[in-house]
Amino acid sequence: MTFNATPHLERRRRLLASMQAAGGGVAIIGTAPEVMRNRDADYPYRHDSYFHYLSGFTEPEAVMVLVAGPETRSILFCRDKNLEREIWDGYRFGPQAAQLEFAFDAAHPIEELDKSMPALLADAPAIFYSLGQDRSRDARLQDWLQGVRGLARSGVAAPGRIVDVNVLLDDMRLHKDAVEIDTMKRAGVISAEAHCRAMRLSRPGLREYHLEAELLHEFRRNGSQFPAYGSIVATGANACVLHYRAGDAELKDGDLVLIDAGCELDSYAADITRTFPANGRFSGPQRELYEIVLAAHAAAVAETAPGKRFMDGHDAAVRILAQGMLDTGLLDGNKLGSRDDVIEQGAYRQFYMHRTGHWLGMDVHDVGDYRDPPAADGSKPWRTLQPGMVLTIEPGIYVRPAEGVPEQYWNIGIRIEDDAHVTPGGCELLTTGVPSTVADIEALMRQGS
Ligand code: GLY
Ligand code: MN
Ligand code: MN
Repeated sequence: MTFNATPHLERRRRLLASMQAAGGGVAIIGTAPEVMRNRDADYPYRHDSYFHYLSGFTEPEAVMVLVAGPETRSILFCRDKNLEREIWDGYRFGPQAAQLEFAFDAAHPIEELDKSMPALLADAPAIFYSLGQDRSRDARLQDWLQGVRGLARSGVAAPGRIVDVNVLLDDMRLHKDAVEIDTMKRAGVISAEAHCRAMRLSRPGLREYHLEAELLHEFRRNGSQFPAYGSIVATGANACVLHYRAGDAELKDGDLVLIDAGCELDSYAADITRTFPANGRFSGPQRELYEIVLAAHAAAVAETAPGKRFMDGHDAAVRILAQGMLDTGLLDGNKLGSRDDVIEQGAYRQFYMHRTGHWLGMDVHDVGDYRDPPAADGSKPWRTLQPGMVLTIEPGIYVRPAEGVPEQYWNIGIRIEDDAHVTPGGCELLTTGVPSTVADIEALMRQGS
């Protein structure tokens, strides 16, 4: 498949237009460093999301400089061709080929960056840069600024302001374009299929890592580059540890398995959770709590539409969960009062201690402000949902053993998580390829492998 530079070029154009509207200047955006794992072995390389959003370029050691002056220019600094290194580590574009492939106005070897920056920054009214993300790059920025000031005698002015470029980019990234939505749909389909595979193959006696292996198999055989985050495969009481990772616990007859896993495809994440019985049949108490979480999920989906606020889905889910906790005796209504009292006092947090969603995109917990700009009275209302935003919907119930908590629910942990794309008419779930009702899960599991 040939690379399509157009979406990235278009995003650079939009960023440059925002920079011009803010008085003009020069943006400096670098990619992520390579990180060593241990002696001679590095972590799998993952580019910086902002950098990739604007370039599509995946090699390490690259920086882009965007000049918003009377005219605009996009310049890429990247690794030079190097036959010796390419024999060991593989192909490098080099500046010449990278300029063409990724549609930059110019490209130069990364070694020339320090020498070029003072001239590029000369007379720029502002630097658009995100301070505090990369200590060594911040230090280099100081050197570049000193370099510009060194040119002062030749009548050159140093930039007077630093603007956080990520603030502009966060808002762009929050509103996905059609290419991004298409990629996220494909990531959702692959991830849903991986969950189906794990469900079908589940049986008592297997271990958590066996199901993790099935997820990875499905991700990778469909071209996903990585899991989007460390897969959670948690059986029994482990499901009540929110950030548990797939371990070696055995799947026991009668226990539930909670899987929270999604693939990263072409830099975009999916994020799905399903909870199912290891043996294919929900017990009575498991089913009771499952139906409450499923109803909370449906209530949150119904509140995910343009004009609704980010927290409306959470509030709707909490109303269902709190009522369910009272109905099942997880919470004692005689002591705590009504559903609204339980919500008011936050008593439901004993069993539901996280939010119902987050932005999703290139990063699993994606960028974007969760609040609208402050209102006239200084209040900061929750973000109003708009078409093109993508967020997760992930209510749950986690019951740790405790005095006063009915024993039949102890150690049950349930979460149901889907990825919702806000559309003009409401929202579209990208991850429905894996069942979520009790009947559909049990039917899929009866099919077996
Ligand atoms: N998998 C991380 C989350 O659900 O937020
Ligand atoms: Mn998740
Ligand atoms: Mn999530």
